[in-house]
Amino acid sequence: MSNTNQMPQEKGIDHTLSFMREGYLYMLNRRKSFNSDVFETRLLGQKAICMGGKEAAEVFYDSEKFQRKDAAPNRVMQTLFGKNGVQALDGQAHSHRKEMFMSIMSPEGLKKLTNITKKQWEIAVGKWEQMDAVILYDEAKEMMCKIACQWAGVPVQEDEVQRLTKDLGAMFESAAAIGPAHWLGRKARNRVEKWMGEIIEKVRDGKVNPTENTALHRFSWHRDLQGNLLDAETAAVEVINILRPMVAIAIFINFIALALHHYPEERKKLETGDEKYAQMFVQEVRRYYPFFPFVVARVKKYFIWNGYKFEEGTLTLLDLYGTNHDPEIWENPDMFNPGRFGIWEGSPFSFIPQGGGDYFLGHRCAGEWVTMEVMKVGLDYLLNRIEYEVPDQDLSFSMVNMPSIPRSKFLIKEIKKTM
Ligand code: HEM
Repeated sequence: MSNTNQMPQEKGIDHTLSFMREGYLYMLNRRKSFNSDVFETRLLGQKAICMGGKEAAEVFYDSEKFQRKDAAPNRVMQTLFGKNGVQALDGQAHSHRKEMFMSIMSPEGLKKLTNITKKQWEIAVGKWEQMDAVILYDEAKEMMCKIACQWAGVPVQEDEVQRLTKDLGAMFESAAAIGPAHWLGRKARNRVEKWMGEIIEKVRDGKVNPTENTALHRFSWHRDLQGNLLDAETAAVEVINILRPMVAIAIFINFIALALHHYPEERKKLETGDEKYAQMFVQEVRRYYPFFPFVVARVKKYFIWNGYKFEEGTLTLLDLYGTNHDPEIWENPDMFNPGRFGIWEGSPFSFIPQGGGDYFLGHRCAGEWVTMEVMKVGLDYLLNRIEYEVPDQDLSFSMVNMPSIPRSKFLIKEIKKTM
């Protein structure tokens, strides 16, 4: 019998309010005060284990120890994820579905995406030059919606783009919301799922013919482990699992613009054209700014880690933001310093803005390469290909709202193409 200790425990009936008040810093604050990478609390009326840091991430991504079934709250399934999607699968069913996602992330697929992204930036910049002022967040979402649909092979008419952008945006903007914003997200999801389900049926009836290797083509014809096509609803949820997060890259585009504005010395370093530094800058934007706060799972079967008991079924949260700001891993974690990636050891558990571990065996974000490619094109445009003015505005961002977006949504003026 191994010796076990009592896990540091936050006393009280429920801590959901503190969680909502402290947002991205909730777990990091307690990890500091308990001097422990793991602690127990109560959230939404149930016992929950919170953990963060490299070793904790490694344990969390051990599929023998944790599973995703019944982990995400219903309200998140109804807005952000959708039902029966890859996020809530485990074991073989998960790896088989995940292979479907990863099959579109080939070097050729990513090259195609880069070309589509550049073309859409050209079109958008042409439009922005004619405008008095541009709200970068809104424009980037619409541009990302067009890029996502084109890359995924989803036919969308020009006059449908605004509505679709709004709906896809509402799904991630409402993920943590309660009240009217939550309902807006739910309605948006229902609308887009219905529309996408009809498109899937049309593909199967030969009325819509997406290019091979696009998400729409692959997912429409994907067969599960029993050899059956996915039902149209599930296939729709999975195509939306490509479109929705691609639109969410608009948040990172905003943070790139913000970093260029706040750190002019970084702008100078980037202007030398060093591609490696551009890559490090993109990594630092993903590390530094708050985006996806944590991921959830349930203990699959009882185990002991570091002397602490993990009881089967316990809800467990892995702190993504806190791991990316962990002083044990990152020197001066609250400083924006792309250079740190020159010496980063490259562990899949220390830098986890989009989850950690393995893409195929675990739940690490399927779209991490997509995100980085799109961010690099965005950086190139904001740095080298356009000039713009940044008028006075509220550029602060919340450490509580999830996701967090600069409050002014980044207003720019006098946009001119330079290259
Ligand atoms: C916008 C920036 C993005 C962020 C911050 C982000 C973050 C994440 C996170 C934290 C997870 C969960 C990891 C886990 O459960 O352990 C995830 C999963 C996922 N992401 Fe992303 N993501 C982004 C972009 C994308 C893009 C562009 C795509 C698709 C092209 C995508 C597709 C997915 C899918 C399909 C999953 C589920 C993977 C699984 O359960 O196995 N994401 N993402």
